[in-house]
Amino acid sequence: SWVYSVSFKHLYQIEIPSVTSVFSVQYPYLPVVDCIYFNGIRLHVESHQHLVSATRGSSVTLPCHYRYEPEPTEPRRTRVKWSWLPANTITSNEAFPLETEVMVAMGNRHRSYGSFRGRVRLRRSAPGDMSLVINELQLNDTGRYRCEVIDGLEDESVTVELEMRGVVFPYNSPKGRYHLNFFGARQVCLDQDATLATLEQLLTAWEDGLDWCNAGWLADGTVQYPITVPRHGCGGRSLAPGLRSYGQKHRLLHRYDAFCFSAAIKGDVYYLSYPGMLNFTEAAQVCATDGGQVAKVGQLYAAWQLKGLDRCDAGWLADGSVRYPIRKPRANCGPKQPGVRSFGFPAPHRKFGVYCYK
Ligand SMILES: *[C@@H]1O[C@H](CO)[C@@H](O)[C@H](O)[C@H]1NC(C)=O
Ligand SMILES: *[C@@H]1O[C@H](CO)[C@@H](O)[C@H](O)[C@H]1NC(C)=O
Repeated sequence: SWVYSVSFKHLYQIEIPSVTSVFSVQYPYLPVVDCIYFNGIRLHVESHQHLVSATRGSSVTLPCHYRYEPEPTEPRRTRVKWSWLPANTITSNEAFPLETEVMVAMGNRHRSYGSFRGRVRLRRSAPGDMSLVINELQLNDTGRYRCEVIDGLEDESVTVELEMRGVVFPYNSPKGRYHLNFFGARQVCLDQDATLATLEQLLTAWEDGLDWCNAGWLADGTVQYPITVPRHGCGGRSLAPGLRSYGQKHRLLHRYDAFCFSAAIKGDVYYLSYPGMLNFTEAAQVCATDGGQVAKVGQLYAAWQLKGLDRCDAGWLADGSVRYPIRKPRANCGPKQPGVRSFGFPAPHRKFGVYCYK
């Protein structure tokens, strides 16, 4: 008999004697269902959620269930494999990008891999429940997860996208505008307790009103910037609002700013000041004496966006920049839109307050 398999990636015919018929469809929309017939038994794999949003440090469940129709009379040797395509993967021309393994399970035995070791388990709340539970979510856990159910030679899968709630912010080097190649950009984001933003994260930030006329690296190796008010010098007035893209740039040779992404923080960011104010060295001492450390830029943005931090006092941050977070714009506190205001990187002997993180 003939096997017909249709998906967005390929269409092919192969002959498998023992199989009666196969029909495999990957729907573009919910619910994601995949099924296969063999020996009169049909294997269904499905996920009732295609996109899952979570916060850093929390636990998340990526749904995946399988069932047979009709119920097999004998137990089957079903294997389940969860694999992952990180959101931070540089896009390439390969049709089948490399996924890495997260967990494989067979019967009651399972094994997890890499940075997921010890942090993942299968939920198994019911027969066929192969939902993946990830604990202590990290910023770089975002991406596309694939739940693959393997029965003998046949395997069917569904994918679930994991995204992190957080905030995107532009960052330039203390040396000024357009000093960072891709690797430098990745490093400055890490230094600010953040990661390079993905295209989806920048799009969401743009939808929320981010308008920034300097181009920055994204995690996929492209260089773009978000414009909500089209204007001269930022792609021109005739272009519709949106992301302006320079496409893929040379990761070593080309230099731009960075768009970083910071998610929920566990601790608190707060402002401290002293009579007569603090230079950069004193700021570090004051935070340390208070049991904390000088806040990083990503932490200040996260506190501003996710915890509503609003303070009209400029303070030192760990990278030597001076900023302050405004939720409710008011007189003498910068522009009419909410935002984190920046004084750039003042000389370290200058006197300000400080934002600490504890
Ligand atoms: C993800 O982030 C964690 C903690 O920030 C780090 O230990 C780990 O190496 C990172 N994993 C990858 C694949 O970059
Ligand atoms: C900050 O002030 C202290 C004195 O309180 C001084 O010793 C230190 O050198 C100053 N640091 C900078 C960067 O100016």
